[in-house]
Amino acid sequence: MRPKIAPSILAANFNHLENDIQMINESVAEFIHCDIMDGVFVPNISFGIPVVEHVKKVAGKPLDVHLMISNPDNFITAFASAGASWLTVHYETCPHLHRTISAIKENGMKASVCLNPHTPVSVLSEIIADLDMVLLMSVNPGFGGQQFIINTYKKVRELKSLIQENNSLCLIEVDGGVNFDTGKQLIEAGADVLVAGSFVFNSEDPKETIRQLSEL
Ligand code: DX5
Ligand code: ZN
Repeated sequence: MRPKIAPSILAANFNHLENDIQMINESVAEFIHCDIMDGVFVPNISFGIPVVEHVKKVAGKPLDVHLMISNPDNFITAFASAGASWLTVHYETCPHLHRTISAIKENGMKASVCLNPHTPVSVLSEIIADLDMVLLMSVNPGFGGQQFIINTYKKVRELKSLIQENNSLCLIEVDGGVNFDTGKQLIEAGADVLVAGSFVFNSEDPKETIRQLSEL
């Protein structure tokens, strides 16, 4: 199956954000990936709820919101109201993950859990059947434009096995350092969704780059 592409607007031009959203709308992208960073869980601050609300007003694709924040439970309702269709929380920030996942679904969103590069896939074994998506970080979260961590291919294969063993319909998304080369190997390993920030927005023709990623 063809990979779904989720361009990350972290690498967009924030002076002309609407233009970049329109570009994504006109592209074959599946989602618009929004990276929310709080300066506590990750060593960077990006943007928050008001920006997501404005993105939603011009978005022609579902918002895939990636929360890199401490205490995400406090913001589930706010991101639902802001227009998130998919909400990803980090495993590392959720001591009561089952409760968090249930709350995301009760707020009408698809539920996704993200694993940092050092967190093993096996921690999700008891909850995989309840998830709509797992996001594997292929860089340490906090910044765009970092180098892809090669161990991610192995984690994609392990996650694929876990999903199949549990008859789960959960998608596998990968985030960080995605380009034509890493993207192709990720798809071969079993990834369904590729997040791409700098590779898309720094390219000559971002719409065409999204199309080519979708045909890997
Ligand atoms: C990193 C973010 C990513 C980031 C990816 O913390 O979660 O979504 O925007 O950026 P690239 O594609 O440039 O590695
Ligand atoms: Zn992300």
